[in-house]
Parts: sequence; C-alpha cells; structure tokens
Amino acid sequence: MTAADLLARIRLNGAVPRHIAIIMDGNGRWARERLMPRPMGHRSGMKSVREVVEGAIEAGVEVLSLFAFSQENWQRPITEVSALMSLLEEYIAREANELAERGVRVMVLGELDRLTPPARAAVDRVMAQTAHNDRLTLNLFISYGSRAEILRATRSIAADVAAGKLSPGEITEAEIEKRLFTAGCPDPDLLIRTSGEQRISNFLLWQVAYAELYISPVLWPDFGRRELYEAIVAYQSRERRFGKVSA
Ligand code: IPE
Ligand code: IPE
Ligand code: MG
Repeated sequence: MTAADLLARIRLNGAVPRHIAIIMDGNGRWARERLMPRPMGHRSGMKSVREVVEGAIEAGVEVLSLFAFSQENWQRPITEVSALMSLLEEYIAREANELAERGVRVMVLGELDRLTPPARAAVDRVMAQTAHNDRLTLNLFISYGSRAEILRATRSIAADVAAGKLSPGEITEAEIEKRLFTAGCPDPDLLIRTSGEQRISNFLLWQVAYAELYISPVLWPDFGRRELYEAIVAYQSRERRFGKVSA
C-alpha cells in the first residue's frame, strides 16, 4: 500500500495516537551495509526525520518525540559525537524556517549544558522561533537519559521538601510529572523503535507506562512516511486496556 492509501485508511479507522515517540536506531548499520563511515548513516537519517515530521502533521498527530542522542551516546568516539553535533546544527539551520511556517513547535529536551556552544545556540534559536506554534509539537531528545531525568525531578522535590514548600504526603504523580522535561505533554500512545532492537535504552521510562510498542525491522535511514503510517495502522488495531477488562 502507498503512503496515501495508508493515510486514507488511518482516517477511516479513526483514533490517531496523540503522541508518537520514536527511538531512531540503525544509522550505523545502514552505513556499514554500504561500506560508508557511520556519520553518513546519521546524515541519511535526517531525511527520515523530515518525512516523519511531515507524515505526523498530515495524520493529525499532536506530539512527535524523537530520540536523537542519548546521554550514553556521549561515550561514542569523539569523531562520531562531533559529526552528530554538526548534523544537529545543520538540521536546525536547514529546517527551522520551514518548521516554523508549518506550525511546528520545536522543543529540545535533555541535559543541554553538555552541548557545544554553537549547537546550544542553534537549539535556543529554533525553540524561540517556534515557541508560539501549536500544530505539532516536535520534541527532540538530545543528551537525554530517562533515569537522569527522574533523578533531576527527585532532587527538585527533595529541595522543595527541605525548604518546607512541600510535605512528603503532597508528593503525587502530578508533582513528579511537572518536573520532567515533558511537563505538560500527554504520555506517548505509541512507541516505535526501528532497526529491530527490542529494548527501551533509557528513553521516557516514566512516560511510556501504557504506550503501545511497535518494533520495526527497518533501519532508520530507510524509515519514512509509509513506515510511520504502517505503525499507526497497527496501533489502531490494538486494544488498550489500561489494566481493566474489555468492554
Ligand atoms: C541511531 O543509530 C542514532 C544514534 C543513536 C545517535 P545508531 O548510531 O545507534 O546505529 P546502529 O544501532 O549502530 O546501527
Ligand atoms: C538509543 O539507541 C539512542 C538513540 C536512538 C538516540 P542506541 O543505539 O544508543 O541504543 P543501544 O546502545 O542499542 O541500546
Ligand atoms: Mg543503535
């Protein structure tokens, strides 16, 4: 089926996931299969980002979360880390205006203090430029680790308790949620991982509590609008029970 056929089917089926999160994996293997250096795989993955953003807008998704660089990824060889930082700058330089025109609000989430100054400047610029948009929220997770995010929230709560602003009994799920990077965002309904790996790799551990999981064998640079729509169609056939029994 073509992407257009799949989109028609998605519309017929009804309920589209409000929030889709994607662990974009397989760039290195894609490059290796072509005897190219790993950064070429990352470069090629940029066009998948573009397609998936367009596809999400057309399908009426509200939030798209993309895992682009984990805290653990800082341990990769410096050449690869530098290539990824440059690609981030290049992506923002090339796409910011179009994203802004299309009504996309870009949020970059993670430990941003670790970014190089030019990458940090690019991130701040695109967030400011698109802050007022509301057609699609694009969360780019960079230098992100979910355990570190939960630890940060815990410290913030502990500080409030120590300062007498909050009592232990007042610590609720909502108090934790508002201290996560994703504060105010609905939880992901659908979590996609590409390249066939069947693990979460420290992504949104709190937020994916009831997300539907979809593992695609396709390597990220080969993942496009059609593959996104296939995942949405699969999601639409799932029964989400949230621990209850079927109606
Ligand atoms: C995903 O592709 C992108 C990042 C993690 C930055 P990988 O670089 O992990 O590709 P593989 O898993 O080695 O194929
Ligand atoms: C997860 O992919 C991180 C991103 C996609 C940014 P990795 O390739 O780093 O994860 P592992 O090492 O296979 O778990
Ligand atoms: Mg990988």
